[in-house]
Amino acid sequence: MVIIVKIPEIREYVIEKLEYIFNPRSVAVIGASRTPGKIGHEVVKNLLEGGYKGKIYPINPKAEEILGLKCYPNIKEVPDEVDLAVVVVPAPIVKQVIKDCAEKKVKGIVVITSGFSEVGNREEEDEIVKICREHQIPLIGPNVVGVLANKSKLNASFAPDLPYAGKIALISQSGALIIGLIGWTWLHRVGLSTVVSIGNKADVDFSELIIYFAEKDPATNCAAIYMEGTDAGREFVEACRRAAKKLPIVVLKAGFSKRGELATMSHTGSMAGSARIYGAAFKQAYVIQAKNLEDLYDRALALSLQPPLKNDLVLVITNGGGAGVLATDAAEKYGIPLQDTPKDLAEALKKYMPPFGSTKNPVDLTGMANEAWYYGAVTEALKHPEVGGVVVIYCHTAITEPMKIAEKIAEAGKVAKEMNKPLIACMIGGEEVEKASNWLKEQGIPSYPIPDRAMSAMGALREYGRILERIGYEK
Ligand code: ACO
Repeated sequence: MVIIVKIPEIREYVIEKLEYIFNPRSVAVIGASRTPGKIGHEVVKNLLEGGYKGKIYPINPKAEEILGLKCYPNIKEVPDEVDLAVVVVPAPIVKQVIKDCAEKKVKGIVVITSGFSEVGNREEEDEIVKICREHQIPLIGPNVVGVLANKSKLNASFAPDLPYAGKIALISQSGALIIGLIGWTWLHRVGLSTVVSIGNKADVDFSELIIYFAEKDPATNCAAIYMEGTDAGREFVEACRRAAKKLPIVVLKAGFSKRGELATMSHTGSMAGSARIYGAAFKQAYVIQAKNLEDLYDRALALSLQPPLKNDLVLVITNGGGAGVLATDAAEKYGIPLQDTPKDLAEALKKYMPPFGSTKNPVDLTGMANEAWYYGAVTEALKHPEVGGVVVIYCHTAITEPMKIAEKIAEAGKVAKEMNKPLIACMIGGEEVEKASNWLKEQGIPSYPIPDRAMSAMGALREYGRILERIGYEK
């Protein structure tokens, strides 16, 4: 018996055919159930409710129709080509279903079903992978929530909603995390293009997905990855290096503790490996690391909305001294220690503060700051040739309306865009401030509730800037 341990190499047919999975003209759901609440029923419902415009074919030998759609007893009886087959039958039936899919010449397969290598059933998993590879059909899974893509309004999963739209592709080895993180995208306006649950990654691994998003998917400009482990490390490094010019890649690696390693083994059948080995590989792969889930989204959001930071002179502009100090500490932590404000800029900034303000970096406009001062100071800084980027911090005061401040920051964002420099906001306060902060993100300005998170985001933009300095900017 051949044991299939990893992808044999980065396969161009997989990269080409992934488009059929994320942008299919037709989807068959094999194991579409008549019973609401069963996964096979919810996948069909999600396809319909998500607004997918292609053809949907439920497959179930016991049903005539499901949710108003004609049912077929077997995929081979569908009178049309099928691009994507989503498999939701119990594990013992999966192999036969995969054979049927191969005969039907489907272009891509997603297997939601659990009960394979994660519980020691390696043999059956290898057999289905073998069939897929023989027929050059990329397979995602098994043991996944499914795939979701905003460009095709495809919710081929049992996650309740499509994510808030944006340009980040989220690739996750955990399915349940994905479901939770989709909720976050709406709550915090973190825009995703695509969500892929890769589960046991028996066939398609991180590598080919990364190259697909970098080279074949204009809807994506950043990848955020939740990783437990990979046994295709060499291919992962190769793929990330190939993608790095076009696609910043942020990875949250889990399972570094002793018990964490055991947990990843039983969750997705992956070896977690040591932090040292992964750290070295990530460096070699031009990967930007995140320290937790929040940081994964924070860093990916900045990378998806803003250009890389090309030099280390970041100016912090605030109306609160304490917030400025916190930002200063964080700047050091994330590898961009604050430098002095250039003399001519310091002079120019005096127009936007009372005599007791400070033009030193962090620049303190004081609690008297209004939206006009914010706009003036931020744009003045962005236009200065020595400044690489700006972090603008706002603490809610009684003399300002958060939304008006946000509007001026968004206006300054247009100047940042012209100058091709990153602008990041930090808005500290209650509900009204959160609303303004979310609105800012909708306008393309990453915004965070504390200085540490804003600075981590700017740090990620600097890391990507350094990567591009090393490998060359895209022409
Ligand atoms: N072809 C098509 N349909 C078939 C076939 C066949 N050959 N044989 C049976 N079916 C139908 C069944 O009749 C049933 O439809 P019905 O309800 O209308 O009768 C449907 O397929 C589903 O089959 P069931 O036997 O009812 O299976 P059930 O829905 O209970 O479970 C499932 C199937 C969901 C795939 C289950 O085995 C499983 O793996 N669940 C776990 C999924 C999961 O959690 N994935 C990982 C997510 S990641 C995370 O962390 C959350």
